[in-house]
Amino acid sequence: MAVQHSDVLVFFGATGDLAKKQIFPALYGMVENGELSIPVVGVAFSKWTLKDLKERATESVKAARPDADAATLKKLLSVLKYVDGDYADEATFNALKEAIGEASRPTHYLAIPPSLFETVVKGLKRVGLNKNARVVVEKPFGRDLKSAQELARVISLAFNEEDVFRIDHYLGKEEIMNLLYFRFANSFGEPVWNRNYVQSVQITVAEDFGVQGRGAFYESAGALRDVLENHIFQIVALLAMEAPAYQGYSAVHQAKTAVFKAMRPLAPEDLVRGQFEGYRQEAGVAPDSDVETFVAVRLFIDSWRWADVPFYLRTGKALGATAHEIMVTFKRPPQALFEDAVSPQHHPNYLRFRLQPDSEIALGARVKTPGEEFVGDTRELVVGTEHPEERPPYERLLTDALEGDRALYSTEEAVEAAWAVVEPVLTNHPPVIPYKRGTWGPAEANDLLADNDEWHVPTLKEN
Ligand code: BG6
Repeated sequence: MAVQHSDVLVFFGATGDLAKKQIFPALYGMVENGELSIPVVGVAFSKWTLKDLKERATESVKAARPDADAATLKKLLSVLKYVDGDYADEATFNALKEAIGEASRPTHYLAIPPSLFETVVKGLKRVGLNKNARVVVEKPFGRDLKSAQELARVISLAFNEEDVFRIDHYLGKEEIMNLLYFRFANSFGEPVWNRNYVQSVQITVAEDFGVQGRGAFYESAGALRDVLENHIFQIVALLAMEAPAYQGYSAVHQAKTAVFKAMRPLAPEDLVRGQFEGYRQEAGVAPDSDVETFVAVRLFIDSWRWADVPFYLRTGKALGATAHEIMVTFKRPPQALFEDAVSPQHHPNYLRFRLQPDSEIALGARVKTPGEEFVGDTRELVVGTEHPEERPPYERLLTDALEGDRALYSTEEAVEAAWAVVEPVLTNHPPVIPYKRGTWGPAEANDLLADNDEWHVPTLKEN
């Protein structure tokens, strides 16, 4: 059966932060690319009018796209509609039904806190707006395994699994998609991509800014739930997965899910939690908050390929830089033919993937320094992979959802398998350790590393 394109996009949470930062700019981009001409109905409970929503859309597009063109913006504004009302009130959904009119294949995007999902899903079902409809949900998918399962149950009351789109916007980023491509479009890496050659894998997702006014949200999440368990785990899965058994995205989903399932559940001694000084003074944050704004983890994947290879993962706010980087460090040569090459002072070989702020792939290798001595240093063979034409992830992902393409969305099986890994440490964990803003988190994170490993600090290019 041919996949039917959606004929209306409904988004709940139209007056919220996500809509302002991501959704309106994405919708603008979609209009610009000729990918959006269907009606877009914003829904919220804010006592707004359509005029207010259009003003918000204009402001948000102009902030994200200083190059915005008046005709495209006008076209976007012309497809917008707005319904205001309490999600608990049936009248809101009746009004929505009227706004949708004749459309028969809606996509409902729930850009709202998970606590409201059930109310909205039930509201949609009550008036029959779940029929032949798709639903897009935002991470975090629940707060733990149990709530994720409950969320899945609620959604399944109204939608078929093939109509559920779970957004992790990292999957729509070029640099992340390139990990899959780089691994399986090349053959040279495969022989060394395993426990025989890889000493460790490190992933740093660091941000130099704080919680940016999202204190109340952050209190319910923390770095482990906000970034590590989803965005970073997705990166781990792409790095660690086996080659998909056949062509097509369901094979990729299966191979990634197998990685989540092979991850050893974390124990309290596998993580270090930090909190930047000043976090407790942020609006919406408890004065004695124990929520982590930094987390470092030592993870093992109990598979034939990765047994005993540590995956060191860390993420946090108010760190030394905004930089996302992967380091796959290879073992040192087995024999000390050249002493300097095996000295613990030198980096052995590595593959470095810089994902943000710029994107590049570098192979670190020892090269002889000219002169009598057989000594050298580690140099990098670098490939810059800038994407000047890169589409912002929300633009790409929303377009896919409207087309019914789930390739870059998470599956429920993967979501639950990932929760199972962090479940043992969600409440049973060491207390947060304070760290100063602009540092790389608490020094205790070093204790997670094996003797011959060190945290790699991303080196940023001078502007
Ligand atoms: C979001 C988190 O999912 O990802 C934020 O909620 C985080 O806290 C953001 O800052 C990072 O995304 P990006 O695309 O800026 O790397």
